[in-house]
Amino acid sequence: MLYRIGTSQGWTVHATSRNPLNNLAGIPSEQRMRFDLEQPSTWRNIPAGADLLWCFPATPLEQVQAFARTLDGPPRRIVVLGSTSAYDAPSRSTEYPPPWVDESAAIDLTKPRVEGEEYLRNEHGAIVLRVAGIYGPGRNPLDWIRQGRVGPSRKYVNLIHAEDLASICLLALNKGKPGEVYNVSDGQPYTWNEICITAQQRWGVTAAPANEDPSPGKRISNAKLRSELDYRFRHSHLYEALDLIESTRPHS
Ligand SMILES: NC(=O)c1ccc[n+]([C@@H]2O[C@H](COP(=O)([O-])OP(=O)(O)OC[C@H]3O[C@@H](n4cnc5c(N)ncnc54)[C@H](OP(=O)(O)O)[C@@H]3O)[C@@H](O)[C@H]2O)c1
Repeated sequence: MLYRIGTSQGWTVHATSRNPLNNLAGIPSEQRMRFDLEQPSTWRNIPAGADLLWCFPATPLEQVQAFARTLDGPPRRIVVLGSTSAYDAPSRSTEYPPPWVDESAAIDLTKPRVEGEEYLRNEHGAIVLRVAGIYGPGRNPLDWIRQGRVGPSRKYVNLIHAEDLASICLLALNKGKPGEVYNVSDGQPYTWNEICITAQQRWGVTAAPANEDPSPGKRISNAKLRSELDYRFRHSHLYEALDLIESTRPHS
C-alpha cells in the first residue's frame, strides 16, 4: 500500500509493508509504515483522510470490508490495483484472435480479489485499475523466457511498463472518476510466439520448447485510459523498452 497526505508543500507519500524494516529499507524511516490487512492493530497507522494506492489483492473480503469501514470520515481517494485476470470468466469465447476487451466486459465475481475490488468500488468509490502483466527492470520478459517460465504459444499477452503504471496510478489518484474502472495495458498485445521469435532474433534468447498453451488469451483495450484520462505512454513499444532493460541488466 502507498498513501499520501496533503501538506502545505504539496503531497507527502508513504509506503507500507508488513515488514517495513526489511522490505522498505531504502525508504526514509519517516515515510515507511507497517500495515498488514490481516492485523487490524496496524490499520490505524494510516492517517485519516490519506489517499490510498492499494497494491495487493483485495482479499479476504471480510478483512477488506472491516478495514474499509475504518476509512469512513474525511473524504479520500482510493485507487486499487486489480488485474486483467478479472476478465478470465470460464465462458470466455475461443474466437481467434481474441476480441478486444474493454471495461464493459464481464468479470469473474467468483474470484475473491474481484469481489474485494468490486466491494471497494461500489461501496467506497474506489477507482479500480485492471492491470496487465507488469514488466520493467527486474521484471524482464526475456528472463521469463530464459528461465522457461514462458515459451512460444499462440496465446496473447498484454503488458504494461512499470514506469507507465506508476504514472497512471498518480493520474488515477488525481483525475480518475470515483467508482470507475480503467484497463491499464500498453495497448499492443503480442502472442508469445511473436515475442519468442523476436527474442531469438534481436537478443539471441532461445525459448525452451514449451507445452503449448492452447488458450487464446485476451486483447486488452486501453482506449478509456487514453481518452478519459488522456494518458500518453512513455513505453508503448515493447521491443524498444526491452532494448533498454537488456542494456542495463546485471549479467550473472
Ligand atoms: N505483477 C504483475 O504482473 C501483475 C499483473 C496484474 C496485476 N497485478 C497486481 O498489481 C498489484 C501490484 O503487483 P506486484 O506484482 O507489485 O505485487 P507484489 O510484488 O506482490 O507486491 C504487493 C505487496 O503488497 C504487500 N502485501 C501483500 N499482502 C498484504 C497484506 N495482506 N497486507 C498488507 N500488505 C500486503 C506485500 O509487501 P510486504 O511483503 O512488504 O508487506 C507485497 O510485496 C497487485 O495487486 C497485483 O496482484 C500484478
